[in-house]
Amino acid sequence: MEIGIVGAGAMGSGIAQVASTAGHKVFLFDTRKEALELSESKLKKVLARLVEKGRITDEKAADIASNILYVENLDTFSNCGLVIEAIIENLDVKKQVFKNLEGIVAGDCILASNTSSLSIASIAASVEKSERIVGIHFFNPAPLMPLVEIIPALQSSEEIVLKARAIIDSWKKVTVLAKDTPGFIVNRVARPFYGEAIRIMEEGVADVPTIDWAMKEIGGFRMGPFELTDFIGHDVNYVVTETVFKEFFYDPRYKPSFSQKRLVEAGRLGRKTGHGFYNYAEGAMNPEPKKDEVLGRQIVDRIVAMLINEAADALFLNIATAKDLDLAMTKGVNYPKGLLQWANDWGIENVYNTLRDLYDTYCEDRYRPSPKLKRMVATGEQFTF
Ligand SMILES: NC(=O)c1ccc[n+]([C@@H]2O[C@H](COP(=O)([O-])OP(=O)(O)OC[C@H]3O[C@@H](n4cnc5c(N)ncnc54)[C@H](O)[C@@H]3O)[C@@H](O)[C@H]2O)c1
Repeated sequence: MEIGIVGAGAMGSGIAQVASTAGHKVFLFDTRKEALELSESKLKKVLARLVEKGRITDEKAADIASNILYVENLDTFSNCGLVIEAIIENLDVKKQVFKNLEGIVAGDCILASNTSSLSIASIAASVEKSERIVGIHFFNPAPLMPLVEIIPALQSSEEIVLKARAIIDSWKKVTVLAKDTPGFIVNRVARPFYGEAIRIMEEGVADVPTIDWAMKEIGGFRMGPFELTDFIGHDVNYVVTETVFKEFFYDPRYKPSFSQKRLVEAGRLGRKTGHGFYNYAEGAMNPEPKKDEVLGRQIVDRIVAMLINEAADALFLNIATAKDLDLAMTKGVNYPKGLLQWANDWGIENVYNTLRDLYDTYCEDRYRPSPKLKRMVATGEQFTF
């Protein structure tokens, strides 16, 4: 099957590499010639490194490279069985692209969007045959991150969704099914990892390095919340937080923070600008963590309880199955354990009591425990997968 990718930026280029590695002929289109040239030269370097490390043969690298055609005309997509759009995050521009595509591809071609924050239903509304549209959400970098969220639009046909999922499964990705709601699974459930960490810091309970230390050493996460947001870039991370907050009709649980907003306003975007929560300038002194086990445990319990609450509430609202919710967090953002499994291991009652204490202390809606947890405590139930 021929695959079309619209947008040769970070995501489109990565997805093209994945599809080509799986043996497809790939047409990669961008309105900017420079983007295509950059994508091609970056892929060459990536493939050379993979050969160097012995991950692929010279022959395979040559196949992957030659299977991708960098095109400046969308008409080349006429025989594609699947087209994935990965252009800028702008609804009007995306809608126009899908309208154009519909005039080019065959009737049975699946049209997918890699959007992180727009509703798939709104994108599907731009075409005549809206049942052929589906969300296929890869994670960055697409060749390395195993998770792909499959998001049916209100209008999608079941057959198209099954077909799309089977194609992505055949690319050796781990697919999960998510409802068309803000942030899908990962970008919704992960919010407290950043938000609650910042809140703890703002309250003065602990400083940035101490919270990062606790989350890594005691929580078992690969990176601390502040290191991670410095790495992602505060412009990117803040926009996701703000979008999820707005899209949830301003649910206080997702409220962005002033600390991160000020970093963005000050141009302290993280590693890429040399300064974020940490200072990356040569010779800069960052404070050492206070390695207090009791404090560290309190920090981890508070953030993990908030994460579990998000996952439990997503299950309560049928956003995804328990199995997919746990897969999404381990395969999409490398959490050490699925959050619902974590709840079982910690004890549902302990999770609920931690949240209830926070709720009673702060009297803020942000800390309301999910009814799912409350009911589970009453019945003694555990999460099942
Ligand atoms: N970067 C991430 O971490 C990430 C992760 C998952 C999903 N996404 C989503 O993937 C999409 C792309 O993100 P990205 O980070 O690759 O962006 P990017 O800025 O790196 O690349 C976007 C590319 O689209 C091209 N483009 C813009 N308008 C176009 C048009 N009308 N037709 C064809 N090409 C056009 C641009 O020239 C650019 O090369 C967005 O919807 C984003 O929300 C991003």
